[in-house]
Amino acid sequence: MKIAVTGGAGFIASHVADAYIKEGHRVHIIDNLSTGNAENINPNAVFHNIDICDKSLHKLFEVEKFDLVSHYAAQMNVRVSVSDPIFDATTNILGTLNILEAAKDTGVKKIVFASSGGTVYGEQDYFPADEEHPTRPCSPYGISKVAVEKYLFYYDRVYGLKNCIFRYGNVYGRRQNPHGEAGVVAIFIDKMMNHEQPVINGDGLITRDYIYIDDVVAANILALKPEVTGTYNVTTGVETDVNTIFRNLKELMHSECQEYHGEAKAGEQRRSVCSYKKIHDAFGFTPKFSFFEGMKQTVADALNCKK
Ligand SMILES: NC(=O)c1ccc[n+]([C@@H]2O[C@H](COP(=O)([O-])OP(=O)(O)OC[C@H]3O[C@@H](n4cnc5c(N)ncnc54)[C@H](O)[C@@H]3O)[C@@H](O)[C@H]2O)c1
Repeated sequence: MKIAVTGGAGFIASHVADAYIKEGHRVHIIDNLSTGNAENINPNAVFHNIDICDKSLHKLFEVEKFDLVSHYAAQMNVRVSVSDPIFDATTNILGTLNILEAAKDTGVKKIVFASSGGTVYGEQDYFPADEEHPTRPCSPYGISKVAVEKYLFYYDRVYGLKNCIFRYGNVYGRRQNPHGEAGVVAIFIDKMMNHEQPVINGDGLITRDYIYIDDVVAANILALKPEVTGTYNVTTGVETDVNTIFRNLKELMHSECQEYHGEAKAGEQRRSVCSYKKIHDAFGFTPKFSFFEGMKQTVADALNCKK
């Protein structure tokens, strides 16, 4: 298959692109390198340094005639979305519409979309949330994900452009950028490696559903099958708080740093955990990495990189 991977210089999509290439597919990466890193780009992919909002995208789609688009390029920082909702919507909604228009005009069969189980449901009524849980996002970022999901429904219904929407938990693993707001695992590992003090925001009891990158990649391989369409949580169903992450990492890294709590971040969602039962029952997907195993692997990769 010929696959366009947007955001393929970033954390998650660079792993997805690697896996697609390993499976023998022809991969084109579309990325403007705003948060991505050129070093993450697989040398066997064709790289296009283009903003997803750029109108030239249509020409590229016309020439290349992609079979499938794996759409990961996004403004993915919740706090940026709060401080600059127009920038967030421009990239995440208008940029995606630019892709959908190009896709529907050039014979793309399916879009795989990176949505967010951690934000689309908002404060949950029940735990873990399944896909039927109401969507009440508490940030412009979460709103942009729900908006794109609805556009995908529309493009399928009106133009027959199929979709597979993955609502991820908090993804972690090698190549995650430790310098942003997202990715507490990457941030803490980086601090501990550099003998700096990690800061736990507030009481550290905020919970999220953490899923290891290799499990996310496995779901994306599954998404290549034509019969895999629809909306699925790609999560672990396990809730982990920040204090637990800190304590486990401290042990795994033999770090001497103290547990330090700073100011709580205002407006942050308290608990998030989502069930993966739907994708399990439909296609047999089960995450293989426990949080501890995933963290062990992430720490080992980080230490190897430093050597
Ligand atoms: N990391 C997570 O825990 C998580 C959870 C749920 C959903 N997601 C979604 O997965 C996707 C990838 O997230 P990530 O963690 O790999 O982030 P990332 O920042 O590492 O990757 C995003 C990539 O998109 C590129 N990009 C951003 N704006 C662009 C634009 N206008 N045009 C072209 N390229 C652009 C960046 O340069 C970067 O390479 C995002 O859509 C994000 O919302 C991530």
